Amino acid sequence: MDFTEETATAAVVGSFANTRDPRLREILEKLVPHVHAFVRETRLTLPEWEAAIEFLTAVGQKCNDTRQEFILLSDVLGVSMLVETINGQQDGTESTVLGPFHVTKSPPRENGHSIDLLGGAMSCVVTGRVLDVDRRPLADATVDVWQSSEDGFYDVQQPGVQPPGNGRGLFHADEGGRFWFRTVVPCHYPIPTDGPVGRLLLATNRHPYRPAHIHFIAAAPGHTTLTTHVFVAGGPYLDSDAVFAVKKSLVADFAEVNDDDAAAAFGVTTPFRQADVDLLLERM
Ligand code: BEZ
Ligand code: FE
Repeated sequence: MDFTEETATAAVVGSFANTRDPRLREILEKLVPHVHAFVRETRLTLPEWEAAIEFLTAVGQKCNDTRQEFILLSDVLGVSMLVETINGQQDGTESTVLGPFHVTKSPPRENGHSIDLLGGAMSCVVTGRVLDVDRRPLADATVDVWQSSEDGFYDVQQPGVQPPGNGRGLFHADEGGRFWFRTVVPCHYPIPTDGPVGRLLLATNRHPYRPAHIHFIAAAPGHTTLTTHVFVAGGPYLDSDAVFAVKKSLVADFAEVNDDDAAAAFGVTTPFRQADVDLLLERM
């Protein structure tokens, strides 16, 4: 009774007193004061509240089996990366967001094989190791990789243009924890803008681009699974990623190599680009 601006928060927080799950109770008891403080501070009007409800409704309506507009909203508000950062490894490689394009299973591939099924672009060789935090090789690690084409599209965005599985591969590390594959240097690309999150970016004069990157999920028995990216040094948008996912430690040189012997060893021709990435996993 007598719900006022002053008593509102305590009344709602008190309503959770009988919540059986202690973590759910803690989260709700912390959430409500923040939401109420936001409403008070902004002196939110009824039309603004209605607009917010309409916006969130549109976000929900944009979701389907392959499109998750709520995660995209969380991404552009920096919430996804904040959760990643709080829960990421302490001593291992830094993590970043999974993103919406890990939607098909990566085809198993042998080390040295190419994930570029299109051809025509300059080759890029990615070499790397999966290691524990003391830099000991994790021989039974798997490395799941996915990336855009050199034009900035994932295979699932261009059916009929790119064959399924282009830019994707599931590799097994060798006895030294090493993995290597051939590909092309990925390109920067926009996040999906044909929904309410795109309208939010437009209204706030923000660009939708992500800097060029390759996604990795590295897993090994007894170790924390790492979801991360490796970003291409020197490319655009590294300092203004639409989803705030860049960490300095994840930016790698994709240097041009002109060494014919090295090219022959990797089965490519000069010039080619090469990046080397170590993925460090903590013990569980
Ligand atoms: C991606 O890198 O695939 C991605 C991540 C977050 C939002 C959109 C795309
Ligand atoms: Fe991506």
